[in-house]
Amino acid sequence: MFKAVRLTDDDRLLILDQTLLPQTVAERELTDCQSLIEAIRSLRVRGAPAIGIAAAYGTYILAKTDADPARLLAQIEQIEQARPTAVNLSWALRRMRQVIESTDATALLPALRAEAVAIDREDAAISQAIAESGFSLLRDGMGVLTHCNAGALATSELGTALAPLYLALQRGLRFTVYCDETRPLLQGARLTAWEMQQAGADTVLLCDNMAASLMAAGRIDCIFVGADRIAANGDTANKIGTLGLAVLAQHFRIPFYVCAPSSTLDPQTADGSGIVIEQRAPEEVCELWYRQRMAPQQIAVYNPAFDVTPADLISAIITEQGILRPPFRFAAVR
Ligand code: MRU
Repeated sequence: MFKAVRLTDDDRLLILDQTLLPQTVAERELTDCQSLIEAIRSLRVRGAPAIGIAAAYGTYILAKTDADPARLLAQIEQIEQARPTAVNLSWALRRMRQVIESTDATALLPALRAEAVAIDREDAAISQAIAESGFSLLRDGMGVLTHCNAGALATSELGTALAPLYLALQRGLRFTVYCDETRPLLQGARLTAWEMQQAGADTVLLCDNMAASLMAAGRIDCIFVGADRIAANGDTANKIGTLGLAVLAQHFRIPFYVCAPSSTLDPQTADGSGIVIEQRAPEEVCELWYRQRMAPQQIAVYNPAFDVTPADLISAIITEQGILRPPFRFAAVR
């Protein structure tokens, strides 16, 4: 299976360039701070856990060129600004920063490598645990709707929202996965539909504005989405469009599940109003995947990358600790 982010045997950092998928499956090497930041900003590497893993390995790669602690910490600060909403980025960099601050110069390089590998491996184990818990909510023949991409491309291994579906495939449970295309950047069409089709799942792609009619037709039994940041009260930031699905799910009485590692929990933020939402370039809305203009010149554009689903629309949050039901009260664990 492909890896979204990997350290090669000869110690190079490669990402699968997600801006090229599904037409081209190609890796790209990240060698310096600017290429790492560019890759995160442009979504060559994306999905909350994957950007944390890339940043962790990236810190190690930077230290191989220049292991001066002060300069490394300054670069970490720049990388942290690359995308503001997914808390996994600052979580992973905080772990790398602690290693820099607590390790002697002679031991720093192996210690940074070990920490990045640990972050990567822990994420893989977390995906497995989420897969097991999420699987227990599935029944044979279900229609499962998902939004954006919270699959293997967004994590170390199986993903979060898609992890239970990978397990269902392994165990022979039948299901249909419905993938919202996820405008404006089409992560559902380009990435989730590709991933699920490759895995052999019965996969159906739809435009975002078709989800309501699919639910009205009785074809959706549950919704699984990922998360970029979950506040102490359970309010959840995820890809723009998630909130609309949660509102629809309540209307149609469809269970709405959020799957995320506990590194996505942000107990320091009391509720969703404190979550910074990334605003992205107007071209993403005005141009069809940057290739063909389809809106008037100079038009004002609304293009937030994420929205916040209030906790009371969420049936359960599934982490590596199990299936958590409301009311949610996340305390500081880090
Ligand atoms: O802008 P993106 O593609 O990075 O947004 C990704 C999402 O919103 C995912 O659902 C989230 O990061 C969870 S990935 C396991």
